[in-house]
Amino acid sequence: MKYLVAIIQPDRLDEVLNLLTKKEIHLVTVSNVVGRGRQKGIAEVYRSHREAGTLLKKVKLEIAVNDEFLKQAMDAIVEGARTGQTGDGKIFVFDMQDCLRIRTGETGTVAIG
Ligand SMILES: Nc1ncnc2c1ncn2[C@@H]1O[C@H](COP(=O)(O)OP(=O)(O)OP(=O)(O)O)[C@@H](O)[C@H]1O
Ligand SMILES: [Mg+2]
Repeated sequence: MKYLVAIIQPDRLDEVLNLLTKKEIHLVTVSNVVGRGRQKGIAEVYRSHREAGTLLKKVKLEIAVNDEFLKQAMDAIVEGARTGQTGDGKIFVFDMQDCLRIRTGETGTVAIG
């Protein structure tokens, strides 16, 4: 089981969600966040809105997947989010120890989706 955290440009969210849906990946958590990468927010100022200091608006996706869906999830995010410009984002991948569906008490891979 893996846990993906992806930071993307807000204007790429719809496309990333469409591509994830096509790959049968429906369960996702989405947050509005601010952040900065290697350019410290400066080089992207004309592409996005400047926030307090040098923090730019981003969208964070969090997705828990069984191992066989990891590549498909990453491919969908890259395909939907990549423009080739700085600030396209990043994906962080974590080994996930467990998952529990509170309603049923199911755990592990069954509880993910
Ligand atoms: N090492 C990191 N730790 C935490 N958050 C990060 C890290 N790198 C990137 N992020 C988050 O991802 C967002 C997008 O990063 P970004 O795509 O600009 O990465 P980058 O390394 O600067 O690559 P690029 O040179 O393509 O812009 C940042 O605004 C920040 O929120
Ligand atoms: Mg950057």
